[in-house]
Amino acid sequence: MKTLLVTGSSGLIGSEVVRHFAARGWKAHGVDNNLRADFFGPQGDTTWNRQQLQRDCTGFAHHELDIRNREGVLRLIAEIRPELLVHTAAQPSHDLAASRPYDDFDVNAVGTMNLLEAVRRGVPEAVFVHMSTNKVYGDRPNTIPLVERETRWDYADPAYANGISEAMSIDQSKHSLFGASKVAADVMVQEYGRYFGLRCCCLRGGCLTGPSHSGVELHGFLSYLVKCNLEGRLYRIFGYKGKQVRDNIHSADVAGFIERFAAEPRSSEVYNIGGGRGNSCSLLEAFAAVEELTGKKLQTEYVEQNRAGDHICYISDLSKMQAHYPGWTITKSLADIFTENVRGWQARLK
Ligand SMILES: NC(=O)c1ccc[n+]([C@@H]2O[C@H](COP(=O)([O-])OP(=O)(O)OC[C@H]3O[C@@H](n4cnc5c(N)ncnc54)[C@H](O)[C@@H]3O)[C@@H](O)[C@H]2O)c1
Repeated sequence: MKTLLVTGSSGLIGSEVVRHFAARGWKAHGVDNNLRADFFGPQGDTTWNRQQLQRDCTGFAHHELDIRNREGVLRLIAEIRPELLVHTAAQPSHDLAASRPYDDFDVNAVGTMNLLEAVRRGVPEAVFVHMSTNKVYGDRPNTIPLVERETRWDYADPAYANGISEAMSIDQSKHSLFGASKVAADVMVQEYGRYFGLRCCCLRGGCLTGPSHSGVELHGFLSYLVKCNLEGRLYRIFGYKGKQVRDNIHSADVAGFIERFAAEPRSSEVYNIGGGRGNSCSLLEAFAAVEELTGKKLQTEYVEQNRAGDHICYISDLSKMQAHYPGWTITKSLADIFTENVRGWQARLK
């Protein structure tokens, strides 16, 4: 039986990866200390998701470990000797990082370093998949000329018709402290590949979503807006006329790609992973789609000031992933994503 270790296993991507591989006969170990509840308060608590994994996935082993605990990480990896490590634990919020800079850097950069070094010392033949972010490009995507359409911004330059590729520079732009700590991790993962030969990749996520997200105002916009709609809460729009565009990928499609990479691993790769143009929407378009599904009007407030360094229009170009892993494709449409998010919250709020 093959063994994998998933960090952040109670979160959106981590829990999906545990389910995906456990269903295919892998022994799944998860590391999560519910730091999301500390970052975002009770709304960010992921205990419910951990309990569901423990109920649904036979053989799943949960470890209440902080990835900042270097000795603990070294010990665990030496003990369980995973063939695959999927690293999803993070301080994931662009905005929160400024108020908790040490925590942000210690978790995102140093935590990643702890895992890389533990793998190199204990299981150097293992495959290491790191969840990075499109925020490593900082606000450089905002330098692409845009055209304003009725409900969204779009790229005016046809060179970006398929979205933003991995060729975009990660340098000399405004990242937020979160983006900078994720750059540190992303570059270190690549370096462990180039320098030590580790089989590894960084997945630079657009908007990752799904019903397992514990969405909060500062992270997980689709999950959070569905929750606001169902609970009659106010949703705040930060700048850009509500026409800012995100490309949304369901967590199941992320897990599907990780399976492909683990089966035919490469070294030091970076991939932009999102929903692509087909799964892109603006905030205004997302409001309309959710309102149609729930039959309820979302209460919104417009705040003129955009979030510092926030992308105006971000669509991931998926062609490198598809060239390296032919046949991998998006299986969950935007309509599926909205429907599953609504059903997920309806069940949780009962
Ligand atoms: N969700 C998105 O839209 C998105 C977009 C781009 C990139 N990403 C990246 O993908 C990864 C997964 O994101 P997600 O949405 O699943 O996040 P999430 O917050 O749902 O899950 C992360 C989990 O990690 C745990 N965790 C945090 N710090 C920890 C620590 N020090 N030790 C152990 N556990 C810890 C949290 O408790 C949480 O359960 C992150 O690296 C994030 O930056 C996410």
